[in-house]
Amino acid sequence: MAELSTRLQYYQKRIENVLDDVLPAAEINPDHLHQAMRYSVLDGGKRIRPLLVYATGEALGIDPHVLDIPAAAVELIHVYSLIHDDLPAMDNDDLRRGKPTCHKAFDEATAILAGDALQALSSYLLAHSSRLQVAAEQRLQMISLLTMASGSRGMAGGQAIDLMSTGKQLTEPELENMHIHKTGALIRASVQLAVTCAESLADEQKQQLDHYAKCVGLAFQVRDDILDIQSDTETLGKTQGADIASDKATYPAILGMSNARQKALRLYEEAMMHLHSFAEEADNLRNIADFIVKRLK
Ligand code: IPE
Ligand code: IPE
Ligand code: MG
Ligand code: MG
Ligand code: MG
Repeated sequence: MAELSTRLQYYQKRIENVLDDVLPAAEINPDHLHQAMRYSVLDGGKRIRPLLVYATGEALGIDPHVLDIPAAAVELIHVYSLIHDDLPAMDNDDLRRGKPTCHKAFDEATAILAGDALQALSSYLLAHSSRLQVAAEQRLQMISLLTMASGSRGMAGGQAIDLMSTGKQLTEPELENMHIHKTGALIRASVQLAVTCAESLADEQKQQLDHYAKCVGLAFQVRDDILDIQSDTETLGKTQGADIASDKATYPAILGMSNARQKALRLYEEAMMHLHSFAEEADNLRNIADFIVKRLK
């Protein structure tokens, strides 16, 4: 299995501290809601989206301090999407990140509200956090790109397509469209958030980073679909076989396992190709791409 570099492991610890700081304390009223938010966000998850923010920053020479809030903002949206994804009305899952899902540990209403509140906190931080030292124009750009990536034209739209597609035989373009939205959009936004902080960047380099992000975003969900079949519940920290049990439209289900693996590999190669104009400053982006297609969880 691919390992994350020492620097990426450092960013995993760094974002944990940032998230701990920005979340409301568990004792503050309404304490039940704040506990649910902290329960779902802290101590778990690979933090791939924040890692992409920091690693893109590294490729562009941006100080990690500038990126703490954008990295936290995208992780908060991601966790909100996971809490809602696990609800009985959606995937109806009991296990997430190796512990009971939010609605199991708390209750459904609290899980819905925790997701809502995390989404709101994400935008609030980008708009107001004094830790984010960028011009108002850049704050606005970050809010627009992250809210666009989260909404009906991004993650939420992809989730709607996912629910409509359950039990259906999609074509490959339909499947790709669903994945690009439900998972790809937030991954693409992670890279774009860091790009927004770059002082000057040629359009060509922006496009190359965006192309990299689109490829790893799609590869990420293809690998997630593969792992649902090939991994086990303990390693995954979520129930293995859940997609098959719910008759979900996934890459292996629709194209077969061998084609799904090839698809992930081709996307990985395409992602790497688009980093060619970057030298070792983009090595952590390369490391993340490698991790995404080889990971076991
Ligand atoms: C799981 O995302 C949901 C998908 C979009 C495939 P991750 O695999 O990034 O979940 P965590 O954050 O590591 O738990
Ligand atoms: C979820 O996809 C994508 C989200 C927007 C959360 P999945 O439903 O495949 O994610 P897991 O497998 O439950 O983590
Ligand atoms: Mg789902
Ligand atoms: Mg799910
Ligand atoms: Mg899945």
